[in-house]
Amino acid sequence: MMIKRIGLLTSGGDSPGMNAAIRSVVRYGLHYNLEVIGIYRGYAGLINEDLKSLDHRSVAGIINRGGTILETLRCDEFLTEEGQRKAVEVLKRNKIDALIVIGGDGTYRGAIELWERWHIPCVGVPATIDNDINGTDFTIGADTAINTAIEAVDKIRDTSLSMSRIFMVEVMGRESGFIASQVALACGAEEVLVPEITYDLGDMYHDVAKGCLKDKDRWIIIVAEGEDAKAKEIVKKIAEMTGSETREVVLGHIQRGGSPTAQDRLLATRFGAAAVDLILNNEFGKAVAVKGNQVLAVDLHLAVDKKDGQMVKSSYQLMRHLT
Ligand code: F6P
Repeated sequence: MMIKRIGLLTSGGDSPGMNAAIRSVVRYGLHYNLEVIGIYRGYAGLINEDLKSLDHRSVAGIINRGGTILETLRCDEFLTEEGQRKAVEVLKRNKIDALIVIGGDGTYRGAIELWERWHIPCVGVPATIDNDINGTDFTIGADTAINTAIEAVDKIRDTSLSMSRIFMVEVMGRESGFIASQVALACGAEEVLVPEITYDLGDMYHDVAKGCLKDKDRWIIIVAEGEDAKAKEIVKKIAEMTGSETREVVLGHIQRGGSPTAQDRLLATRFGAAAVDLILNNEFGKAVAVKGNQVLAVDLHLAVDKKDGQMVKSSYQLMRHLT
């Protein structure tokens, strides 16, 4: 199949490095004589025909910028058959032969629908701060989010030490403890609560109480967002048990913004070019991924399977040996 014109969109939660991936797709695509059509605000923009041809200059000066110049949305209409039909009509009317989608598992599920149900050639690029896409060691944005959270937790540690307080810091990661586990390890936190690990809260209370008896009254406990309901209860109980002052901090969306780190810029740049290569080689229904230092392609179905959480678990175990 001869591909001449490709569509490009970002969808779901934005992540730092999406712009670097957009730049790479556009410039690498142009190098191979593809026309690249930017689709604004994800699948919603596709349905509403919000399109613009992207040239070399339109992606100048964005490699270092957080967010996405194409903007992004979570689109309920695209989940319906009618929404998908409209999207396919737009692609056909605009002679878009193939689509590159940049985002997380929801974005990939949309691409699977387009490819398998409507026969629109699609390729995925993994971008989400949660790093919860299967088949790839890293997604674009996770490294920047971790660095942002580390900077914040280091600052919280300063005040915790000065005022002898126990802090519980909630980081992002809806159903993934990746950010939490990496931040805990990198900040030397005393405890971390993540969805991938079943723990006995009684043990944790015991550890904190024992520490406090030995004058260790400054703790940093990192909690993944998904474990939030437990956090409030835990902080209250610790205060009651130890008599220590406790505080909760929710880092929130600051973790999604900011200039991407070197690692995210490089990953995004390599991923963008690899996605165009897949299109040029007529390899559809796949997503680019990285294993070790090698960029490769995985089936979109495999990519949306639940990740095994091995890195979270091993980081947790290591942390337990260091506290
Ligand atoms: O993109 C992933 C993520 O940042 C999750 O970590 C978080 O749970 C969610 O998005 C927040 O979504 P929203 O910005 O729609 O509140």
